[in-house]
Amino acid sequence: MKIVIIGGTGLIGTKTVERLRSRGHDVIAASPNTGINTITGEGLAEALTGAEVVIDLANSPSFEDKAVMDFFDTSGRNLLAAEKTAGVRHHIALSVVGTEKLQESGYFRAKLAQEKLIKASDIPYTIVHSTQFMEFLGGIAQSGTVGDTVHLSPAHVQPIASDDVAEAMTDVALSAPMNGMIEIAGPERSKLSDLVARYLAATGDERKVVPDTEARYFGARLEDGSLVSDNNPRLGRTTFEQWFPTLARK
Ligand SMILES: NC(=O)c1ccc[n+]([C@@H]2O[C@H](COP(=O)([O-])OP(=O)(O)OC[C@H]3O[C@@H](n4cnc5c(N)ncnc54)[C@H](OP(=O)(O)O)[C@@H]3O)[C@@H](O)[C@H]2O)c1
Repeated sequence: MKIVIIGGTGLIGTKTVERLRSRGHDVIAASPNTGINTITGEGLAEALTGAEVVIDLANSPSFEDKAVMDFFDTSGRNLLAAEKTAGVRHHIALSVVGTEKLQESGYFRAKLAQEKLIKASDIPYTIVHSTQFMEFLGGIAQSGTVGDTVHLSPAHVQPIASDDVAEAMTDVALSAPMNGMIEIAGPERSKLSDLVARYLAATGDERKVVPDTEARYFGARLEDGSLVSDNNPRLGRTTFEQWFPTLARK
């Protein structure tokens, strides 16, 4: 089966491309670096010719409010229009658990706009809502850093390793469209501020984490349940303890 992975050179994209190729599928890793661009349209029609499934794993180069909205809106419109012309039978996208509750944030407003475009198109689809990737903990720490301290909410998180996300994306690509959403999460819940403190200590980073219920998460104030799934998520296998040494080996 021909499968096009938009953002196929990114963190989740690379791992999903590998898994689907190893199962014998004809997979195109699409990204500006491979000459396929969902913003300019470059290479898109050619890449989609004959494709049955498209997995959208692209991310915006900028998280600034207007830039990120422009990215997901333009990319979503161009991609869905090109898929319609090509006769694609399953559109899959990766979004974030809690997106609808985090609308104070420009990033999550853009992800919701992306989801709405998909639901409004007549292409059969599956939206996968994931919790935070373990690989994103450093980025979260950076986003809350002021000087030598990191201000983060103590709201609960249930992070998932990127390998487990790619495994789920692979299974969804090889299943029928749900015309709905599934949620995926890691095996363990902890407080965001505690987990990032543990991550920083493990990496030898001396920044101190200050738990703060008012600290914003990419612009949004968190309730305790904002970032966790109560929708019977599919659980990844990898715990933080198992994942952390794999980071050091890369
Ligand atoms: N981080 C998290 O914790 C988290 C949690 C849940 C869901 N998600 C979602 O997961 C998705 C994938 O995230 P990721 O961390 O794997 O992303 P990533 O590593 O940042 O990769 C982004 C990919 O998008 C591609 N891209 C950028 N502009 C493009 C364009 N104009 N046309 C086509 N491709 C373009 C990049 O290509 P180049 O390499 O050529 O630039 C790259 O392959 C995102 O949509 C994100 O919202 C993230």
